[in-house]
Amino acid sequence: MSQAKVYVTRKLPASALDRIAAKHRLEVNPHDRVLTRAELEEAIQGIDGLLCLLTDTVDEKLLELNPDLKVIANYAVGYNNIDVPACTRRGIPVTNTPGVLDETTADFAWALLMAAARRVVEADRFTRAGKFQGWGPMLMLGEDIHGRTLGIVGLGRIGQEVARRAGGFDMKVLYHSRTRKTKEEEERLGVEYRSLPELLQESDFVSLHVPLTEKTRYLISRQELKLMKENAYLINTSRGPVVEEEALIEALRSREIAGAGLDVYEKEPEVSPGLKELDNVVLAPHIASASRATRTRMAEMAVENLLAGLEGREMENLINPEALKK
Ligand code: NAP
Ligand code: GLV
Ligand code: GLV
Repeated sequence: MSQAKVYVTRKLPASALDRIAAKHRLEVNPHDRVLTRAELEEAIQGIDGLLCLLTDTVDEKLLELNPDLKVIANYAVGYNNIDVPACTRRGIPVTNTPGVLDETTADFAWALLMAAARRVVEADRFTRAGKFQGWGPMLMLGEDIHGRTLGIVGLGRIGQEVARRAGGFDMKVLYHSRTRKTKEEEERLGVEYRSLPELLQESDFVSLHVPLTEKTRYLISRQELKLMKENAYLINTSRGPVVEEEALIEALRSREIAGAGLDVYEKEPEVSPGLKELDNVVLAPHIASASRATRTRMAEMAVENLLAGLEGREMENLINPEALKK
């Protein structure tokens, strides 16, 4: 294709956008916010390539507005915001950004875990409020991390990086995942397989790393939270709807579990008021992959995928190869 029309739904690191602009007609969302549905519906019309965010819902209705769309590059590894089967039916390849954000996201899962267990954010609020009256034997007691048991749900790219970091804390690492690893892989990673109920019963920290699918929606609900230990913590850097937020609020309020660290929410960007009232939860605004270096690498990757799709080259991170057979 000679010159294509490309729309990017949010300003990204400039070097990546310059690569598009050098060859194609580029339009970028001029606002410093997510596009409204009406704006997205207007933006998609007449373009060849769409570079979108996890906050843009790409569904059948949106696709109907542009029968000539040639490629969609998602600026995220998770792609539950896109109706991929609908894209496949229309022969539209979809790409994501796997791999480059694994370590950054795993670092942040650990940041939430440590902040929750050692009450870092609560302690900061306390200190700022002028409540620190001197060292106290019983002041802000939390839970140890070292030597405890970490349960990882979804042992994929990010889950494995979270597991690797547990080595530094002498933790026992359990995992539950769709596909069980081979014995050799389990040994290499230092992990033991458990059913989900077993993992929930045995772990002091449970960290979620599954994609959001129809199978993982509400994977952690009332019943699962009840299986967790009273002094256990739930960490979620996957997708909000993997956890039933109301059930989690109840479990935190009644101290059925000790605490939680959340980067994602069921109805993002809405955060349930019940969560904000609780001291035993650390709340972050979906920033697990937000390091300068990683966001730049994600932009470069999304742009390379988009350009490859437009120029008929192989797309390295193609999610739906079947789309090319259409
Ligand atoms: P990945 O490599 O595909 O790993 C996901 C793992 O979950 C795989 O091992 C997969 O099993 C397993 N899984 C899938 N469905 C399951 C089910 N029903 N029950 C149990 N396990 C299941 O993905 P990733 O790159 O690690 O990313 C994981 C997710 O993290 C993304 O989809 C995204 O939503 C989220 N994420 C969030 C942030 C953030 O900013 N908070 C940043 C990056 C990613 P198989 O081995 O059988 O495929
Ligand atoms: C972020 O949430 C991602 O899926 O990349
Ligand atoms: C604490 O600050 C200690 O010295 O034990």
